[in-house]
Amino acid sequence: MGVCGYLVLSWRCLVVLSLRLLFLVPAGLPVRSGDSPFSKVMDNVTVRQGDNAVLRCNLDNRVTRVAWLNRSSILFAGFDKWSIDPRVILLNNTSTEYSIQIKDVDVYDDGPYVCSILTNNNPKASRVHLIVQVPPRIANISTDITVNEGSSITLMCLAIGRPEPTVTWRHLSSRAHRFVSEGEYLEVTEISKEQSGVYECSASNDVSAPDVRKVHVTVNYPPFISNARNTGAPIGQKGILHCEASAVPFAVFEWYKEDRRLLNGLNGVRIENKGKQSMLTFFNVSEQDYGNYTCVAMNKLGNSNASIILYGPGAVHDRNNAAFATHSSFCLLLTLVLQYVLKF
Ligand SMILES: *[C@@H]1O[C@H](CO)[C@@H](O)[C@H](O)[C@H]1NC(C)=O
Ligand SMILES: *[C@@H]1O[C@H](CO)[C@@H](O)[C@H](O)[C@H]1NC(C)=O
Ligand SMILES: *[C@@H]1O[C@H](CO)[C@@H](O)[C@H](O)[C@H]1NC(C)=O
Ligand SMILES: *[C@@H]1O[C@H](CO)[C@@H](O)[C@H](O)[C@H]1NC(C)=O
Ligand SMILES: *[C@@H]1O[C@H](CO)[C@@H](O)[C@H](O)[C@H]1NC(C)=O
Ligand SMILES: *[C@@H]1O[C@H](CO)[C@@H](O)[C@H](O)[C@H]1NC(C)=O
Ligand SMILES: *[C@@H]1O[C@H](CO)[C@@H](O)[C@H](O)[C@H]1NC(C)=O
Ligand SMILES: *[C@@H]1O[C@H](CO)[C@@H](O)[C@H](O)[C@H]1NC(C)=O
Repeated sequence: MGVCGYLVLSWRCLVVLSLRLLFLVPAGLPVRSGDSPFSKVMDNVTVRQGDNAVLRCNLDNRVTRVAWLNRSSILFAGFDKWSIDPRVILLNNTSTEYSIQIKDVDVYDDGPYVCSILTNNNPKASRVHLIVQVPPRIANISTDITVNEGSSITLMCLAIGRPEPTVTWRHLSSRAHRFVSEGEYLEVTEISKEQSGVYECSASNDVSAPDVRKVHVTVNYPPFISNARNTGAPIGQKGILHCEASAVPFAVFEWYKEDRRLLNGLNGVRIENKGKQSMLTFFNVSEQDYGNYTCVAMNKLGNSNASIILYGPGAVHDRNNAAFATHSSFCLLLTLVLQYVLKF
């Protein structure tokens, strides 16, 4: 049986077998490879899943027998439909064209199709490869997660499509750490707070626009006080101490003067917390209010504290304070003037 003696029959052998069955081609007929007039490779037909595909086959008037095959099974033999699939129809039933249409193409239709033609007892096969494309789609993606600083995470983004989509990850939230990684799994080891935010997964192939989805990663970290400045206020006026702490989840604040905890509404003070900030307000500053206060910021991961001094007029407690700054620039000006005068 020549080429067809192999245990695993290739589609070409099956076509020949089918042709022998259909047209009673003598078994002794030499079977030649695809480059001969026996088999002609036509252009591939590319369609999207769900679309209709047309497979064309041209005839001339010497043709005596025709058939369309899907791999080894006969779809049409002449005008007789052998396939039971209602999606397959004979399209153009003329003397020069023998074409079929496959409606609502699906991925399992992908593969080689053969139009076999018998002319003057000379069999020919035209092969066409039906390529079914599927737009990229993210089938499963990690849900939003919250982890503690220092833990390791793996984000997953499973995509389907034909051709196989390329999956890429981007970190959107942070300017400094906006990185790109390829692959369905993104691993972040010892995550830092800068690595929190939105991660975008994009699945793309050439079929249509990429499918894009996002995962929010929240990184918990203990508070650190980012702003706590000594503040001046005259007696008899309002005074406000500010304390700002960065933390996830947001910090809870407590205020102390020496060892005594201050409570909202008592001793003429109000404590207001808004997001990352806490404010200690003295409605009517008195001499005893001046001194050293401690702001404590806490969350479930830890705590942090800072000292803030409320001072009266004339006191220089803070190198950053406005009076000091004005004083030093005045000195600089004086030095410059003196240098100028001494030159002459
Ligand atoms: C047709 O598609 C097949 C399978 O994808 C490929 O091997 C072959 O090179 C293609 N032929 C042409 C002419 O594009
Ligand atoms: C195609 O045309 C022939 C006559 O030329 C007819 O006998 C046959 O039924 C037609 N087949 C289809 C599927 O239209
Ligand atoms: C039959 O073939 C002709 C020429 O290729 C084409 O214009 C026409 O649309 C075809 N008919 C159908 C029903 O597809
Ligand atoms: C082609 O053959 C494959 C495999 O047997 C089958 O799953 C598919 O439905 C067939 N398609 C058509 C259009 O006949
Ligand atoms: C997505 O993947 C997760 C983890 O592998 C699995 O538990 C879940 O069932 C999947 N969801 C869907 C819709 O496939
Ligand atoms: C502030 O306190 C002083 C002394 O207790 C009092 O005399 C004054 O009226 C108060 N001022 C206001 C605005 O409450
Ligand atoms: C304020 O108190 C803290 C401790 O409670 C201390 O470390 C700090 O030096 C004090 N600041 C001043 C200016 O006395
Ligand atoms: C402030 O922090 C220090 C060490 O960071 C700690 O020893 C101290 O007890 C804290 N003070 C308060 C009031 O929590």
